Parts: sequence; C-alpha cells; structure tokens
Amino acid sequence: MAGKTPDDFMVSKLLGEDADSTVVLAREIETEIEFAIKIIEKRSLEKSSRKTQFEKEKDIIALIDHPFFVKLHYTFEDTKRLYFCLSFASGGDLLSYIESNGGLSRNCAKHYAAELVLALEYLRKLNVVHRDLKPENVLLTSDMHINISDFGGAVKFKRESKKDYKKALPGSGSSNYAAPEVVNTKTCNFNSDLWSLGCILYHMLSGNPIIEESVNNENYHKIIKTKLKRPDVADEEAMDLISSLLKFAAKERLGNEQAGGFDALKNHKFFTGMNWEFLPTIKPPSTVRTFSSISSKTGSEQSLSCRHMSSAEARLSPNKDGTMKRESKTLTPSAVRNLMPSDPDDIEGFGVPVHISSSEREQWLKRQLNSTWHHFTNGALILKRAELDKKRGISVKTRQFLLLEGPRLIYVDPISMEQKGEIPWSRELTVEVKSFKSFNIYVPGRTYHLVDRKGNALKWCRKIENVKQYYYGKS
Ligand code: ADE
Repeated sequence: MAGKTPDDFMVSKLLGEDADSTVVLAREIETEIEFAIKIIEKRSLEKSSRKTQFEKEKDIIALIDHPFFVKLHYTFEDTKRLYFCLSFASGGDLLSYIESNGGLSRNCAKHYAAELVLALEYLRKLNVVHRDLKPENVLLTSDMHINISDFGGAVKFKRESKKDYKKALPGSGSSNYAAPEVVNTKTCNFNSDLWSLGCILYHMLSGNPIIEESVNNENYHKIIKTKLKRPDVADEEAMDLISSLLKFAAKERLGNEQAGGFDALKNHKFFTGMNWEFLPTIKPPSTVRTFSSISSKTGSEQSLSCRHMSSAEARLSPNKDGTMKRESKTLTPSAVRNLMPSDPDDIEGFGVPVHISSSEREQWLKRQLNSTWHHFTNGALILKRAELDKKRGISVKTRQFLLLEGPRLIYVDPISMEQKGEIPWSRELTVEVKSFKSFNIYVPGRTYHLVDRKGNALKWCRKIENVKQYYYGKS
C-alpha cells in the first residue's frame, strides 16, 4: 500500500457505484494526475466470500499491464475504506457511443473488435477469464483506445486447465453478454469471453444488443439463431464472424485453441487488412456523433444529478473536445439500497429515504421522538444528520447539520444546543464535492464551505441532490 491518504486528493466527480463500491474521479494534489479511485467499504468485506472475491479481483488487476486495460497504480486504506487508484479512462465507455449513434460504422466496429481480440489474447496468456465483458466495461482512453475495466467477476486459472472453472461466484452470470455456460451453469472457461466478443460486435454493428432482456435457456438459443439470420444487421463477413463466436459449445468458438487459437480469429476475413502489430498506436476511426438529444448540464449538476434522468441521458454528456463521456452508471436496485441505510443516526450513511410510505414515515417519526435533535425539527422527519465543520474566512465552526423534510437544512451548535442558522433551499441550490471530506453548497449570494471529518462529503452531496430532485424535480 502506498503511503497516501484521502487528503492527498481532490475529488471532482462520481464515476460510478455499485452495491459495495464507489468510483470517483480525483486529482492527486502533489502530481496533479487524475485517477479513477475505486473506494470499497471495509464493512462490505465482512462476508468471507466477498473478501475472497475482492482479493482475487485485486490480484488479477495488479497482474495486468497492457495498454488495453485500466491500470492499477497503487492502493491505500484508512480505517473504514480501501482505495484503488486506477488510471482514468476519460473517453467514457463504448456503450455511450453505440447508444448515441445507434451503432458504429463498420470500420470503427472492426477496429474496436480487433482491440478486444488483442486484449483477450493477452488475458488468455495470463490464464484469466474476465467473465463480464460488455460495452459498459469497455472504457476508452483520451485517445480513444479501449481500456477494459471491472475485474470483479474475473477468474484466474491456476495453470493450463482444460477443465471449466466450476465455482459459482457472487454477482456472476447476470449480463446479457455473458456466455451460456456462465449464465446457466455458473462455470466458465477460456472461451467464455469469446462469446461476449461476439455479442459486443453484434451490438456495435446493429446498434442493439443481440439479447435484450433476460431469457431462459430455451428461447436463448432461438433468439440468437433468429437474429443471426437477419441480413440487414451487417455484411456477410461480419455475420460469419459473429456466428463463429456465438457457438453454444464453448470449444467450437473461433479463437479457441482447438480451432487454431487467436491466430485463426485474427485471420478471419472480417479483419482483412488489420494492422495488428501497431493497433495500440493507430488512431482509431472516429465514431459518428450527434449531440442534439444530449443534456447540457454543467459543473456540479453534471457530476451529481443523474438518478432521475433516463438511463441513456444519465450516461451521456459531451466533453469539451466533443467525445462522449459516461457520467455515472445507472444504479442497480442493490446500489440504491446501499445509498439508503435508512437511519438518520447512522451519520456515515445516506439517512432516511425521501421516498417512503406514510406508514414508514410514521415509524421513523416515532423513533425520532427520542432523538436529541427532534425539538429542532418542528415535527419534520430528519433525513440525514451529521456534525460538519462550517468554514467562513478563517473561522471554522463545528455544527450539527440536520437535513429535514420540507426540504430544510438547519445547523445547530452542539455545545449550546442552539439553532445557529439555516441554508435556504430553492431550485438554485447546488452542491459540489471538493475532496473526500469537503464540499460546497451554493445558494444565491452565498457559498457554504463544509467539511465532514469522517470523509463522507460525496454522500452528503448525493443525499442533497436526491432530496432536491424529489422536491423540485429534474433540473
Ligand atoms: N469508471 C470506473 N472505472 C473507471 C476508470 N478507470 N476510468 C473512468 N471511469 C471509470
């Protein structure tokens, strides 16, 4: 572990989150280098299976050193969390480009399919199977080369194993790009990622995933076969390659050892003329871009408010140079639960959800009657509370902040137990996370500089945005 602490970074944006981890964009103050920092709550590792899986993920990502993969630079920890400093893939993800253009040009799809082939060939040499290859995990660097991420489901075989890896792993097999053996029997083998490559190539060329919703084993076969017969999706060579990859029997997939390995895959006629050796340095063909339907949010809004947008809208926003950037992943139901541990006294959590039934609200209010802070609320429910430092000029005052229904945001002197003020709400109120500990609240005519010494600035901002959207709607 490097001798770093969260204070060595300035956080500027939330990049993604799932049930156990959050990824933020942060600048290392000393070097000014931007990293994507993956933060894992240590308490999420209490379950031994999760801990083992996490250690495997860490070992695999530490092993990978290739231009087509996100790189782990270093890790550090504090008492509550583990931090992984990963290279920041600033180009967004492949899904955003496919969705915004309704597919990619043949030339562009060919280029990215070729980069994926080289990436899979590298993984094969390391005896690693990614198992969750999909366009959302194919990030892009600033010069638009692929940077594969998310090794949470990856498996490293001990040696040249001919046997399938049989153990079911948490969270595995849910993707529509995962091979049949991964979905149906929770096994995987060296050919499993080749199936995903076929699905991604189909998606790039047609603009639609080959499997669009969860399917059972029976119609799985039928859907694939029917879609592979559609002549309008791609030319013959492309369809031939896709069909050669989407074989239910893993050993029949083009690229597997018995069928000539990666050389046979690279020699497929779809890849005719591909300059394999110089692929990492060739400028990728540009994707056609249109921005007309993309929201033009700026500043803190862009970084934090995405929960009430449509999923495509939430993912897309143009960069200054016109490339597309995925702002934040759509939250899964478990991630939403994780945002809301539902207890205002859990000062490190997300507090009470703003969207609750009247009976749930009654229950929370009943509990609140015993709280030290209840008499400041005027009968409103406390949605989140914590002690924050309020900075103004050179003065720093410690205050208990209470985020209430209404919405209201009041602060109390915890020594004299007097209410000292209130941050006025309006639809103009915005938040901005500055580091793991500090954040700003902007209201017309005033900026509140706040510090959460426990390092939960991002959670405060997410909660305030969430409450704002509930009361004022999508901005
Ligand atoms: N989201 C998750 N990991 C990322 C990375 N390394 N770069 C950019 N966005 C990310």
